[in-house]
Amino acid sequence: MDGIKLLSLLAGVLCLGGATKVLELSDRFLELRGDSKWLVMFYAPWCGHCKKLEPIWNHVAHALYGTDIRVGRVDCTRFTAVATEFTIKGFPTILYIQGDERHMYRGDRTKDEIVGFGVRMSAPAVQHLDSHQDLHDTVTRDRLFFLYAGAQEGSLWESYKSQADEMRTLHFFYHIKSDCMEDHYTLESNPAVMVFKDNKHYYFPTPQDTDNQTLLNNTLADWLNHERFFLYPKITHGNLAQLWKLKKYLVITVVKESKIGTITTDEDVEDYVDGYKFKDMVESVIQNNREKYHNHFQFGWTGTPDLANSIAMERLPLPSLLVVNATTLHHHMPEDPAKHLTPEAIQLFLDAVLAQNAPAYGGDSWPVRAFRMYYNARSSLEDMWLGNPVLTAVLFGLPLGFLSLICYSIWCSDILDADDEEEEHHEKKE
Ligand SMILES: *[C@@H]1O[C@H](CO)[C@@H](O)[C@H](O)[C@H]1NC(C)=O
Ligand SMILES: *[C@@H]1O[C@H](CO)[C@@H](O)[C@H](O)[C@H]1NC(C)=O
Ligand SMILES: *[C@@H]1O[C@H](CO)[C@@H](O)[C@H](O)[C@H]1NC(C)=O
Repeated sequence: MDGIKLLSLLAGVLCLGGATKVLELSDRFLELRGDSKWLVMFYAPWCGHCKKLEPIWNHVAHALYGTDIRVGRVDCTRFTAVATEFTIKGFPTILYIQGDERHMYRGDRTKDEIVGFGVRMSAPAVQHLDSHQDLHDTVTRDRLFFLYAGAQEGSLWESYKSQADEMRTLHFFYHIKSDCMEDHYTLESNPAVMVFKDNKHYYFPTPQDTDNQTLLNNTLADWLNHERFFLYPKITHGNLAQLWKLKKYLVITVVKESKIGTITTDEDVEDYVDGYKFKDMVESVIQNNREKYHNHFQFGWTGTPDLANSIAMERLPLPSLLVVNATTLHHHMPEDPAKHLTPEAIQLFLDAVLAQNAPAYGGDSWPVRAFRMYYNARSSLEDMWLGNPVLTAVLFGLPLGFLSLICYSIWCSDILDADDEEEEHHEKKE
């Protein structure tokens, strides 16, 4: 179907959503989508996360306007046929759809990340860079990406291509001819695979025996998996699941993030400055010891203490340092308050964790899981209470009050009756 025909059809069937560039799709999307490239948000009007995504989605549509990627959304409560066809299980779901291909977006719901996803999915899995200038532009634009330098043949290329196919929903993969790089980089090998991140680049140590394709596939997959995060990323709900999968120790620096209005007193300012000093200090430790820690630890920081509190199952003081074993979910914390830690103390602590000498808390056994559930429920209730005591009281207090009144009256009457009977019984015996 050619573009103009499709466009006129679309305009006829779908109403263009107001001033935004997001297309409102209906069940007819199934017949009309053709082979075009679509980025679609599946939502339900009652879902809070969907409401939060809405303005971001408008920005995404704006950013992709003029490209060949169409940005739309489907109200799944009204158009159930579409929801069924794409087996939508939760809201919001973001899918890239093209012909029979469909890929779910799993990253953070920010404009840049989602636009990057759309652009990656609409291009070939491995994109070609034609010159050193191209590479330079890419380094400034995509802050983390993988690059294959060399001829597009041989076992390393085959492995790289297949891994790119699998991991392209999450990361950028590029190819460049080795002579385009030689003026500015000394390649460690030719062909070579590299990662660009943290203003540096690192090489994939190509195994001696590249004839064994299985071995090469596995080694490359492992390496890509280990290198696909920045040295010290911000941990969010979006990337936490990916960070777990590394099966390393996850070292989390927990600080208070500045939000407009939350820093009001001098004490707040002090906490805030302490937090960021601490965060930078941890970063210097990691940077100076990358070789030593890289294989065992993934570092990160969060300004959302809830996330870390839920792992530690207590309200952590800020700032804090928390190390979680991604396999067993045990966590470790330095004995001294984070404020008093020196770089040397942090290193000693990490070494102790690695040697399994540091005390471990928590874990993933049933009692701990139950306690974590209880802790999470309690803290969300507490947060609700802090945010809006009246509403919380109305939501939980009143119905509970009514319920206890009803129960009280039912139970009490039963108990009283029973007592009466017993008394009668006794009386008769006597
Ligand atoms: C390695 O990956 C290539 C590229 O997809 C694939 O064709 C090949 O079957 C894989 N080899 C093995 C032995 O797994
Ligand atoms: C290739 O590597 C795999 C994984 O290490 C190994 O099991 C297999 O025996 C090797 N095959 C050959 C032909 O060496
Ligand atoms: C986690 O704990 C287990 C069991 O104590 C241990 O074998 C493993 O090395 C630890 N570290 C990671 C990163 O899984």
